[in-house]
Amino acid sequence: MDNKQRVLLIISGGIAAYKSLDLIRELNRIGIGVRCILTENASKFVTPLSLTALSKDTVYQDLFSISDENTMGHIQLSRNTDLVLVAPATANIIAKMSCGIADDLATTTLLATDKPVIIAPSMNVRMWSHASTQNNISVLLKRGIKIIGPENGEMACGEFGLGRMSNIEKIGATLNNFFKTKTTKATGKLKGRKVVVTSGPTHEAIDPIRYITNQSSGKQGFAIARALQEQGASTTLITGPTQIPDPPGIYVKHITTAEEMLQSCLDCLPADIVVCAAAVADWRMKNKYSEKIKKEGEIFSLELVENPDILATVAGMKKNRPNLVIGFAAETQNLLKNASIKLDKKGCDWILANNVSKESEVFGGDNNQIKFISKNKIEEWPVLSKEAIGEKLATRIIAFLKDNKNGKD
Ligand code: CTP
Repeated sequence: MDNKQRVLLIISGGIAAYKSLDLIRELNRIGIGVRCILTENASKFVTPLSLTALSKDTVYQDLFSISDENTMGHIQLSRNTDLVLVAPATANIIAKMSCGIADDLATTTLLATDKPVIIAPSMNVRMWSHASTQNNISVLLKRGIKIIGPENGEMACGEFGLGRMSNIEKIGATLNNFFKTKTTKATGKLKGRKVVVTSGPTHEAIDPIRYITNQSSGKQGFAIARALQEQGASTTLITGPTQIPDPPGIYVKHITTAEEMLQSCLDCLPADIVVCAAAVADWRMKNKYSEKIKKEGEIFSLELVENPDILATVAGMKKNRPNLVIGFAAETQNLLKNASIKLDKKGCDWILANNVSKESEVFGGDNNQIKFISKNKIEEWPVLSKEAIGEKLATRIIAFLKDNKNGKD
């Protein structure tokens, strides 16, 4: 057998089973070999012959097939792979997985495998939102099974909502990332390091329907978390509300307010490195309105109080202070001066200063320009994509950890 990554694709009986042919093509295109197990119901949507032609391998269907058991028994099938992917995963197979039912080749293999399992659910919106499916999903998540999707959209049955299987490219990208992470986790230079990244805006409620926030898209924080994870760090991303999907392989904690972000961050400590990339709302309401505020008169004032400073809190910790605490400075004027004052005031080790004036298009954009400030040096980085800034920061962190076992630069 060649040394490319191999996936055992279990196709269960939902309408999205017809997409498995394209899925095999996509996985082959990105260099992943596929072997298929087809459930009896799935064989009503897709034929073993077409799957064999595309996967260039036997398609396994029958638990009690003498010929299959002779060449590749179900235990061997479940072990002779790097990953098991169930796509589409119907509500039925998810329920069986959650209970450990093994009544056909697919479910027996799932029970016997010692390999990582990823599922791509596909079902009607009501079946997906049903309490028993949600309960089964939480059981699988607790067991370490990864879930891709489902997505929102129109379904084959004509209804609209959450339940469509994720598209083929997304499934391919997730698997690709899984294998990449597996390799870097074993070899990456931040292997064994625990990292926490804060990202995105926070929302501070004014009344039940209005809130205070800012223009942050979360792109920079997500890119930093991805770059650190790609170097093998065990990464937690604490994010305020954003449009960006959770990156695979990163533990993502979703929060809304600054106070929740602080608590979530403290819950993650001790950590080796904390990067505060979030654009935390500076103020929250002194007293929240429990009902919608009505217009009364032309002028209306809000009484605000300052939010806790997460970066300063972590950097100032007497016990369990991370080795490296890194912040950002979002400025519209006097960038270097204001950022240097922030470095001192907050007690962090490094500040990545960026100009966030409207013309810079940093908030919401794909690029950024950083002035890197530490206690005794300033570096001017060129305009780079946010991904490239994440990678440059990861390289900088690796160099720091190598040169300074415990000290600061
Ligand atoms: N920060 C934080 N908690 C806050 C405010 C800011 O952790 N309540 C962090 C940000 O994540 C960033 C750094 O502090 O790493 C600087 O944030 P910035 O918005 O530039 O400055 P502020 O501290 O909010 O100060 P100002 O608004 O006066 O510029």
